[in-house]
Amino acid sequence: KIPIWLDCDPGHDDTFAILLAAYHPALRLLGISTAWGNASLENTTQNAASILTAIGKAHEIPIYIGANKALFRPPMHPPTDIHGESGLDGTDLLPKPTVPPNTTIPAIDAAAAALKAETPGTAYLVATGSFTNAAALFLKYPDLASQIKGLSLMGGAIGGGFTNAVLGHVEGVPRIGNWTQYAEFNILADPEAAASLFGNKILAAKTTLIPLDLSHQVLATEEVRNLLLYGPEGSKEEKGKQPKSTLRVMLVELLMFFAKTYTDVFGITAGPPLHDPLAVAAILSGIEDAENEIPCYDFEGEAQEGKKRERYEVTVVTEGSYEDAQAGARTGQTVAKLLPEGQEGVRIPRGLDITKFWEVLEECVTRADEV
Ligand code: BDR
Ligand code: CA
Repeated sequence: KIPIWLDCDPGHDDTFAILLAAYHPALRLLGISTAWGNASLENTTQNAASILTAIGKAHEIPIYIGANKALFRPPMHPPTDIHGESGLDGTDLLPKPTVPPNTTIPAIDAAAAALKAETPGTAYLVATGSFTNAAALFLKYPDLASQIKGLSLMGGAIGGGFTNAVLGHVEGVPRIGNWTQYAEFNILADPEAAASLFGNKILAAKTTLIPLDLSHQVLATEEVRNLLLYGPEGSKEEKGKQPKSTLRVMLVELLMFFAKTYTDVFGITAGPPLHDPLAVAAILSGIEDAENEIPCYDFEGEAQEGKKRERYEVTVVTEGSYEDAQAGARTGQTVAKLLPEGQEGVRIPRGLDITKFWEVLEECVTRADEV
């Protein structure tokens, strides 16, 4: 099994990243570290512990507490319009944690020890919140960059000619970011952290980046919510009948809350993009276990036919404060430059097998139901 460490800030979509990482048969989740971001560190840590309890993994997977602010920036009040006050609003079914997070070992030390204990070239770090912890980890343990197999990040927005300008749904306004016109949330939360990851050549060559351009193709539509609620057999015929478990009701309540905030804030009505589990899915592309593989493509749809891989040099606009960004600066923007063929750099998948992704995710819920 592929060993992975998940750094996250749950977070509605982070919840599904945890579920996929904890229950995919090809993965072995070593531990979770919590990042500040969608809510205060206190809340994201509490949420992570509650999620593990809800999915029956609290006694198996340790949680460590990460940083509570960006590397070089003043603390920032997390926005509440997307994930609510708690960071995980929308359900009363979230249980109280049965196992508290570890309060003695700092998250980056725990992550480093766990990753280093694995055979070199096998383990992945996945980060789906602010990148403060991930950057601090490689700054403190630089040799880890050559030891791990890969780094998978959810963050950034490429826009322009890359794919669709994802949030450019307002006519005439080319908006590519979700937090600001230009910046995606995880990157703007700590632009220096993101820049330090992409600026590390050894790391960049083994980094996969899932930007909004891809995650906005993967919407938790009503059909998806029914699949998660009733399972594949019941999703059509039994619609409106009994959900298969309380866990499923909880997950779908979370998705309903997320759907509403995406409608209110962005006018996206088909369903909320489920960004974070895609960073886990990216490491499941190309695995031998075809049944549980989630194919990701360097190119969109049929455009990939006959094409070789593409790699990018990614840079981050770090100039400017959070306030400047809100006022229209490009702070937190990710810029991806296509590298000449054969050169190493960041992989930015532009498509994935979306049907397969939901199927595999649903099977993870089935496994969690059995616990
Ligand atoms: C990212 O920001 C957070 O709101 C989500 O959890 C995801 O990690 C999307 O921009
Ligand atoms: Ca997140």
